Amino acid sequence: MSNSSDCAVVVLAAGAGTRMKSDKQKTLHEIGGRSLLSHSLHAAAGIEPEHIVAVVGHQRDQVSPAVDKVSEEIGREVKQAVQEEQNGTGHAVQCGLAPIVGYTGTVLVTNADVPLLQSDTLKSLVKAHEENKAAVTVLSLKLDNPTGYGRILRDADGNVQEIVEEKDASNEQKQVTEVNSGVFAFDGAVLADALTRIDSNNAQGELYITDVLGIARNDGKVVSAHIAQDPRELAGVNDRVQLAEAGAELNRRTVEAAMRGGATIVDPRSTFIGVDVKIGRDVVIHPNTQLWGATVIADRAEIGPDTTLTDMIVGEGASVVRTHGSESEIGAQATVGPYTFIRPKTVLGERGKLGGFVESKNAQIGAGSKVPHLTYIGDATVGEESNIGASSVFVNYDGVHKHQTNIGSYVRTGSDTMFVAPVTVGDGAYTGAGTVVLKDVPAGALAIKEGRQRNIEGWVEDKRPGTPAAQAAQRARENSTKQEG
Ligand code: UD1
Ligand code: CA
Repeated sequence: MSNSSDCAVVVLAAGAGTRMKSDKQKTLHEIGGRSLLSHSLHAAAGIEPEHIVAVVGHQRDQVSPAVDKVSEEIGREVKQAVQEEQNGTGHAVQCGLAPIVGYTGTVLVTNADVPLLQSDTLKSLVKAHEENKAAVTVLSLKLDNPTGYGRILRDADGNVQEIVEEKDASNEQKQVTEVNSGVFAFDGAVLADALTRIDSNNAQGELYITDVLGIARNDGKVVSAHIAQDPRELAGVNDRVQLAEAGAELNRRTVEAAMRGGATIVDPRSTFIGVDVKIGRDVVIHPNTQLWGATVIADRAEIGPDTTLTDMIVGEGASVVRTHGSESEIGAQATVGPYTFIRPKTVLGERGKLGGFVESKNAQIGAGSKVPHLTYIGDATVGEESNIGASSVFVNYDGVHKHQTNIGSYVRTGSDTMFVAPVTVGDGAYTGAGTVVLKDVPAGALAIKEGRQRNIEGWVEDKRPGTPAAQAAQRARENSTKQEG
């Protein structure tokens, strides 16, 4: 077998996708944290072909930048070909060959709406294609319900004759359960030639790529079908129902891979994991947890229940309960939650804590430091082993600008401290409960709010007569008078 760099992959993503009924181009809809387009380009890149060409057309103002973005992600060139009018899959492939005109290696064609397709499956298609010395090999699948797919027609000897689309098929042909996945391997020269001879005499008035099979076969070329082992991998997405089905199947696979890698997933059905997420050994994931983006969960961390993390790094043995977090880091052995909102650029050190009803943003919190209850901490640094009192606010916004608060190590701030930024609290300092910190607190100082508490006796009975509070106050006063008397 020659190596796979002898091939080019043309990915079709120009179609209108009308069945989605969407303002977004079909292949930009997402499952498993990636667009359908991105899944198909990753699969193509996985076989390290010489060229990848994405064919864009319908809503290409959306699709073309999305192709560039994936190209950057996968770190290789993806050429783009434009199909101005969507005259069918055959026409799309014609357009797709333009950037690689004259290419005579193997040309693979895939549909960008087949998101579960794996690189290994493409490799096995190329292998079968080469072993059979075929001019065309279609990747086929067998389905109990083949509705909507092109049917593979074979002659009495089992040789592939042609593909007939659902809309062009006779009732008898519709009974055929072997169908076209939309993924093919072609001899580049045979493909280029056959594409000049396809026509649109069919129910949809389009140029079909599938017609290349019949043409090649009539020319006496070897045309074969490689039956996929796992038909669910080749499910096409044409509408929202199929999108959800493909999403569920992909998630089932991703969650299973995490379990096979040594993670405990308490309820696989309510756990959603994006394809780029990395999960270590002896991680425990509780129900209703979603992990997306480039999230990394280190060994022995415990996540959930009811937690959504996107682009988060969670250290070894950390615990994250009922938390919504993004673009942040949680250190080893740290604890977070329940009911914690972690916004971007939060870095919680080892053994640190962000407790219940705490919101953080752009806050670097040192090892062993704790923000345990009911606090907003934003645009701040906290040193090591400090404790922020309950119900504190880092007052970072003056209505025009955001300002920074820096808190040292071994600091203990009282409940309900307001840090009016910009402000600095030195190492080992304390603040009293209810302090509004307007100016810097030197190391080792206690900051307290000026002003004494004043009690205005009898105010409630006087100003709020007849209320339950006034009645309670009256009873208390009478009781104490009786006791005194
Ligand atoms: C196609 C196949 C069908 C196969 C099925 C597998 C044809 C004629 N039919 O049907 O045999 O069983 O896929 O999922 O090939 N596209 C373009 N330009 C166009 C039309 C389509 O780029 O002018 C792209 C679409 O964006 C899509 C792909 O080609 O990614 C397939 O098009 P779609 O309309 O979904 O074809 P199906 O009806 O699913
Ligand atoms: Ca399709």
